[in-house]
Amino acid sequence: MVDQVVSTMEQNGVVEVKKILHFGSLNNVMMSVFGRLYDFGENGGEGCELEELVSEGYELLGIFNWSDHFPVVSWFDLQGVRKRCQEEVQLRRFTMPISLMFCLIWSRKISLVMEMIFRGTDTVAILLEWILARMVLHPDIQAKAQSEIDRVIGGRPVTDSDLDSLPYVQAIVKETLRMHPPGPLLSWARLATEDTVVGPHVVPAGTTAIVNMWAITHDERVWSEPNRFNPDRFLTEDVAIMGSDLRLAPFGAGRRVCPGKALGITTVSSVVGSDVAEVQMGRSGIS
Ligand code: HEM
Repeated sequence: MVDQVVSTMEQNGVVEVKKILHFGSLNNVMMSVFGRLYDFGENGGEGCELEELVSEGYELLGIFNWSDHFPVVSWFDLQGVRKRCQEEVQLRRFTMPISLMFCLIWSRKISLVMEMIFRGTDTVAILLEWILARMVLHPDIQAKAQSEIDRVIGGRPVTDSDLDSLPYVQAIVKETLRMHPPGPLLSWARLATEDTVVGPHVVPAGTTAIVNMWAITHDERVWSEPNRFNPDRFLTEDVAIMGSDLRLAPFGAGRRVCPGKALGITTVSSVVGSDVAEVQMGRSGIS
């Protein structure tokens, strides 16, 4: 990814980082699941088809749909969300790249694998994009991460096994997850199957409750100076992010917690470690 960003910069003077991160993240999932990389060349092809499907799926995942909250209007599908979902399913069935289709049929765990592709691509790409933006905005923090990597790793490439020795890089990832949880609601929703009491509230059976992680991570009763990007807060206090501490649960919590959380966090931390080690990002570009 770093090479692609640098070469596109050299060729065009500008680079749409988001696109490169999205393709890179999709290929990372495809490589983990199928052991195969896809081509996202300018002339389209299997990779681009797949990428379009994933992007549409992610948008539908996060869209606010009035029909979910007012059953009366659900008949009319005013925003066309149901129609788009149906079209997406048809597209996934019929235009999914043929080789991928074979792999899915062969693996016999179609829905599980589809979920991994659709849930594991944008989340990782969006988090990486926010981290890069934060590095550009905070050169002092970037320099601190760079000096940690130089001290611990030296000149060799960063690997997964180095991550435990890079607490500041990990703190940057955590602080970005706090300030910019990828998709603030991210369908971390629960349906009450029976009447339930939560604190002072009675939640009737059939209610869908949606956790607003963004509001929790920006609440000054929970975090000091919540609007300040400050990775150091995680060096002084070890906050678990895998779902056991509800002050910061970007991967959800409980039995439906994100199954890709370890893969997601390791991928993101490794990419950040490599990026920060290899290039300097600033408002005027990268060097
Ligand atoms: C930074 C990266 C990621 C974030 C922030 C994230 C976040 C989430 C969240 C909040 C949920 C909902 C959990 C709940 O309902 O309690 C979820 C579900 C899920 N995630 Fe992730 N995720 C990430 C990466 C990944 C990766 C890399 C994969 C797989 C390769 C993945 C696969 C899934 C799947 C399959 C579900 C659905 C689980 C279910 O419905 O039971 N995620 N993710």
